[in-house]
Amino acid sequence: MERKKLVVLTGAGISAESGIATFRDANGLWEGHDVMEVASPEGWQKNQALVLDFYNQRRKQAFQAKPNPGHLALAELEKKFAVTVITQNVDHLHEQAGSTNVIHLHGSLFQSRSTADESLVYPIKGWELKLGDKCEKNSQLRPNIVWFGEMVPLMDQAIAETQQADIFMVVGTSLMVYPAAGLVHYVPAKAPIYVIDPNLPAVNKRTNMHLISEKAGVALPELAQKLLQAV
Ligand code: OAD
Repeated sequence: MERKKLVVLTGAGISAESGIATFRDANGLWEGHDVMEVASPEGWQKNQALVLDFYNQRRKQAFQAKPNPGHLALAELEKKFAVTVITQNVDHLHEQAGSTNVIHLHGSLFQSRSTADESLVYPIKGWELKLGDKCEKNSQLRPNIVWFGEMVPLMDQAIAETQQADIFMVVGTSLMVYPAAGLVHYVPAKAPIYVIDPNLPAVNKRTNMHLISEKAGVALPELAQKLLQAV
């Protein structure tokens, strides 16, 4: 029998229990910085050293973080479901937990890319990307992260996956940032949607929607067991 397709949209909340701060729980400040200073092309133009250092610190922190029961439950669901994780997170905790099919909608902390040619993407060795680190075309490297005001290159792929979902989950995201937040509108009407967040985001109610006001590390293992037993 063909496996059911489970598509999961995750946000910062799923990594919260691994010790990585979410964005909007901190009053618009992100680890002490105005989000626009560290996550926009304008911020980069203004102060490249500050932006590089900011992501170096995030990378250092991410190296120390470990997947929590929420990430692990999503990996376990691969035993019986065809799972696609669409994450807004730039950490790699889904992969570390064992998920094999992860779309990083907002890029990766562990890659750099050329400021002259965005098709030139490189792995970052170690935790530090510095002023003076250059691509093969001799331009400064920047983090391969989608900043505010930039295109989301993997959005079409994420929409195509969502349109094929038999089951959809939304975990740990405030659904404040588009286009990612709009993915919910592409879920087929017949597919149940599970929303897991202790502070539930505003979503249009529809039939077949289950709102679970709980932490991911608690609710996801429970839901995963339920779904695995029902197959
Ligand atoms: P937000 O910080 O906006 O939202 C985090 C959500 O996680 C909130 O709804 C919290 O209630 C919820 N949350 C907190 N702890 C949780 C837990 N233990 N379990 C489950 N949920 C929990 O983060 P995102 O929605 O991911 O973009 O933000 C979207 C984008 O905005 C990010 O990808 C980032 C940011 O600017 C870029 O960096 C490009």
